[in-house]
Amino acid sequence: MLKTPDVLLLFCLVGAAEALYKQWIPDTNYENKTNWDKGAIPCGSDTVQFSAQRKVSVFVETTHAVQEMRLPVDGEFILNSGAGFYVVSGQDPDCGAGVTAQFKDPASLQWFNPALWQTAATLNDLHDENFLFSVHEESVPCQYDDVVFKALSSFSVDTSSSQSSIPVKSVSVLGKMFGSTSEFSQYLSSRSGQLQFHGSSAVTVGHAGCGDPSGCECGNSMNNQKICGTVTCESVSCKKPLLPVGHCCEVCGAIVTIKYDTGFNLQAYRERIRQIFLVQPQYKSIQLGMSKVFNSQRLMEIIPFGTTPEIQVVLLDQEKGAQAETLARDILKDVRSHGTTIGIVEAEFQASSGSSSSQSGSSAGMVVGVVFGVLIIITFAVVVVVLIRKGVVKKPRMPSMPSLRSTKKNNDFALSDPLDHGFDNPMFDKPSMLPDIPDLYSTNNSLYVTQTGVHFVNPVYDDNETAFNA
Ligand SMILES: *[C@@H]1O[C@H](CO)[C@@H](O)[C@H](O)[C@H]1NC(C)=O
Repeated sequence: MLKTPDVLLLFCLVGAAEALYKQWIPDTNYENKTNWDKGAIPCGSDTVQFSAQRKVSVFVETTHAVQEMRLPVDGEFILNSGAGFYVVSGQDPDCGAGVTAQFKDPASLQWFNPALWQTAATLNDLHDENFLFSVHEESVPCQYDDVVFKALSSFSVDTSSSQSSIPVKSVSVLGKMFGSTSEFSQYLSSRSGQLQFHGSSAVTVGHAGCGDPSGCECGNSMNNQKICGTVTCESVSCKKPLLPVGHCCEVCGAIVTIKYDTGFNLQAYRERIRQIFLVQPQYKSIQLGMSKVFNSQRLMEIIPFGTTPEIQVVLLDQEKGAQAETLARDILKDVRSHGTTIGIVEAEFQASSGSSSSQSGSSAGMVVGVVFGVLIIITFAVVVVVLIRKGVVKKPRMPSMPSLRSTKKNNDFALSDPLDHGFDNPMFDKPSMLPDIPDLYSTNNSLYVTQTGVHFVNPVYDDNETAFNA
């Protein structure tokens, strides 16, 4: 099925790290008619009005005739070269009687609104409007994404959130790319920066890109409430609606879950699915979103006991999910025949029709799950015990000298007093405990005794030791 040139292309893509571009859609451009209350760009007979109190940055691309202009107290025009305004006396014959055109208030547009962003794999794809579908949390810029505000445009974005900062890899504003933290924070405090970005959280650039070819977790789950607060879910009519990880709404369609190993490359696999399947006419109506997510594992489907990274492929379909399910089966077929060469260990799917790939193998899966779960619980118990022990004792504040001394002392005790069975007690057979309390050891005798519980400590012996060291 895969033609030779395609195979070559796939190999070229391997090695490219996963990085996505997220482009802010709305603008505050003078030439965008959606920014005017009358739905049209003002012309020569019109009075142009900006709300007095609104701070706004407006990009002007060309020259405009106006009758009168009422400006805000604070704001700016960003004039393209050759752009400007001139006043016509009397009526503009091309414009009619003239109205008062009010520039709309852009202040309420939120960074965390997934509907206001477009995602693409490359800058070329952004330009060609070759957009990718994402679940809601990943429609908003992830920490390793490049954020793009269109080159010839102004904007106003409200970055309020419960977090103090919004980390991203880079931000491009008016065609200039900011990749360094200090440079961008300087821009944010400039006049333009303050008009464009407002709200309680600061966007910070310079976060590392995703270096893992198998993808990275978006990191927006902590903003889930904020993100989903802006989304209105449509009612769904399928038998068993699905809720993809990172999505705010239940959907009809299918979810393919992929377990991968070292050879897996998310970007190459996304491209593979596009070239083999999505180009086919019967899949034209499919929206496909593919990303790494951390799915919580459940013991016997109830008790959560951890998370594992996996690749989630969300397939949405306008036609009640029928095509999505066919595509899910096709993807599984492809995994069965080519999985090992593309780094996929296992894949399964669930469809909103109620069918899934794991219906037959569920009992075996359950046994494995239970065994695995028990192992995890044992590991957890051991870790808790270790943590409790560590937590009881303070960390060493002094270098190795006193530690050596006390360890040695512990051994000497064992040699010099072999009849005392107290030394068989595992509580004392912990070299790590004694080194942990050098301060107590050297300064406070009574505390030393109680904290370690070593009632064998003989002050005479202690003196000997000190003499030896002196
Ligand atoms: C005008 O603004 C709307 C909403 O902000 C946006 O969707 C549209 O793409 C803009 N038009 C152009 C030509 O950029």
